[in-house]
Amino acid sequence: MVMMMVTMGLRGSLLFLGLLTAQVTSSLARTGNGYPRMKLSYQELLAFQGVKRYEMDRSCCFDTMLLDEERGRLFVGAKNYLLSLSLDNISKQQHMTDCVNYVKVLHHYNRTHLYACGTGAFHPTCAFVEVGQKMEDRVFRIDPNKVEDGKGKSPYDPKHQAASVLIGDELYSGVATDLMGRDFTIFRSLGQRNSIRTEQPACRWLNEPKFNSAFWVPESENPDDDKIFFFFRETAVEGQGLGKSTYSRIGQLCRNDVGGQRSLVNKWTSFLKTRLICSVPGSDGSDTYFDELRDVFLLQTRDRKNPLVYTIFSTSSTQCLKLTGDSTREELASVLFSSHSLTLVE
Ligand SMILES: *[C@@H]1O[C@H](CO)[C@@H](O)[C@H](O)[C@H]1NC(C)=O
Ligand SMILES: *[C@@H]1O[C@H](CO)[C@@H](O)[C@H](O)[C@H]1NC(C)=O
Repeated sequence: MVMMMVTMGLRGSLLFLGLLTAQVTSSLARTGNGYPRMKLSYQELLAFQGVKRYEMDRSCCFDTMLLDEERGRLFVGAKNYLLSLSLDNISKQQHMTDCVNYVKVLHHYNRTHLYACGTGAFHPTCAFVEVGQKMEDRVFRIDPNKVEDGKGKSPYDPKHQAASVLIGDELYSGVATDLMGRDFTIFRSLGQRNSIRTEQPACRWLNEPKFNSAFWVPESENPDDDKIFFFFRETAVEGQGLGKSTYSRIGQLCRNDVGGQRSLVNKWTSFLKTRLICSVPGSDGSDTYFDELRDVFLLQTRDRKNPLVYTIFSTSSTQCLKLTGDSTREELASVLFSSHSLTLVE
């Protein structure tokens, strides 16, 4: 069975999660004339029998999700709640834990615990959440002795975007570290090694970044070669003089980076970034650039060293978006590339 998950923040407080079977997916994927479907409205989606919904009042912002196939669960971080939903029937909600404000970070920590961070009423906080070994354990609670400072892990402001990945017992997070969202960092914390971050002030390394996602990609059998990639968009320093422009970026870090000896102490010494270029040629010969990275999905292949990365970009012309006033008409382009075909330059 192919499972497709559709999520939308709808009408304020409604969480909508749809599960579709293979049959439905294939009929959704094609329109009558054989061309791939370019858009799918909410109404059309509801019309399909295979869709199951989970609704919840008095919350919002269901935008942090963690799939747990082994336990047949989907964990969802939201405003004031952390949910554990059954994959067989997402209306069947296992438990609900009152949590700290907007949950922005959610990772598998070990066999029994998740690591979760939230904005904590402008006081970022992280906690270990016990979820049991299997669903039947019916365990879902925060360990009050294991609540810790979440600065550099979760943003202060729920409107700020953050990205993180947990590798072993270490958390790599791209986040604003202050209330106003002016100071940004890519930060490694938890674990046994010293914390390590980007240089301060960060503007030489990161310029008003909007983090989207972070992934861990091994490069060889040797863990010392492991790389961490951050995807974000930021204000381009290259574009200055032509007004403020945004570029999409991929940033790379080495997992074995321990910071510098004399300079760059507790700072990254392996940080590289490059522009992600996605453009289409127009009929008049000029290219349209899709400079605003919107989302990234990393698809694991048989070879963990060569995942496929799907990326969604939009144009940075806000005027154009305002004119259409309809996000489904927002022109989106996707590119497909192998992370190893990228050349990374500082
Ligand atoms: C899904 O779970 C809900 C809530 O427990 C229940 O009311 C509903 O009948 C279940 N649906 C199916 C198809 O099992
Ligand atoms: C998982 O991590 C938590 C938090 O550090 C710890 O209390 C728990 O014992 C660990 N569980 C396992 C199975 O290692």
